[in-house]
Amino acid sequence: MRGIILAGGSATRLRPLTLVSSKQLLPVYDKPMIYYPLSLLIELGLREILVISTPEHRDQYTRLLGDGSRLGIRLEYTVQDAPRGLAHALLLARPFIGGRRICLALGDNLFHGPDPPGRLRESLGRHRGCTLFSRKVTEPEQYGVATVDAHGRVVALEEKPTRPRSDLAVTGLYFYDNDALDKAAALTPSRRGELEITDLNRCYVREGRASLVELGDDWAWFDTGTPDSLLDAAQYIRTHQQLRGRPIGSPEDAAFRAGLISREELVRQSGPVPAPSSAGPRRGLLSEHRP
Ligand code: DAU
Repeated sequence: MRGIILAGGSATRLRPLTLVSSKQLLPVYDKPMIYYPLSLLIELGLREILVISTPEHRDQYTRLLGDGSRLGIRLEYTVQDAPRGLAHALLLARPFIGGRRICLALGDNLFHGPDPPGRLRESLGRHRGCTLFSRKVTEPEQYGVATVDAHGRVVALEEKPTRPRSDLAVTGLYFYDNDALDKAAALTPSRRGELEITDLNRCYVREGRASLVELGDDWAWFDTGTPDSLLDAAQYIRTHQQLRGRPIGSPEDAAFRAGLISREELVRQSGPVPAPSSAGPRRGLLSEHRP
């Protein structure tokens, strides 16, 4: 399986922050946003990942993340010339994906859950067709929304419905078999001119090959696409990181835990232990890793 992180789009809801900057490079507390999905993919076992960005921000991503070798993984980059939709990314990724399965992560989605992420890894292990992850939310009309039957099977998916039929938001992590490439190529643009991920997922629902895994209360999930959710996510990371005494969403930490880099390499890359903050006792983020 190969990974894709979607870091393009126009991020109009975050203007003026995104007039010059790429959304997925904005800070979520103490790290660029893209670090969070990248860490998750490393934790899930992905070692070859394609980052898709806008043409104007591509160099910034390559400067930030390089070829991935410092993390023991391989990173490649490609650009999307305009925001043509999430499913359009699969067309761009075809040469990178080849005949493999696909793990697609939205660059502005932040997941934090049990360590290691057992539920997600299990889903990856038994994955067939398309696997979606849902979360109960209070404002489902802002997301893709799933309706399930009495047996927990997905019977409908709607993109930002005005009258949602459930409170299950479809989150920004998708596992696909290789058929997704052909299915995405056969989609037609929606009214807003995009190849919609929900239309792609509906193809699998129609074939009875879509699974939905509901993330329980032990998972936090943020779509950081608005000023409020960006702030909420930053505050969450600050609080939980301090409680935990270990970084959340650190690709170096994920690579170390996956055995991809040594302890010395981790310490060298992560820099000095931060000074205690005035907010109270704060254990150094690297305290566990000090040789
Ligand atoms: O966050 C989960 C939601 O993400 C899902 O519930 C929705 O079904 C799905 O459509 C998506 O909705 P959003 O409105 O949040 O998508 P957004 O336009 O913010 O794009 C998500 C990410 O993909 C973001 O990192 C920008 C990037 N993107 C977006 C578009 C439209 C691209 O790289 N290229 C694009 O063409």
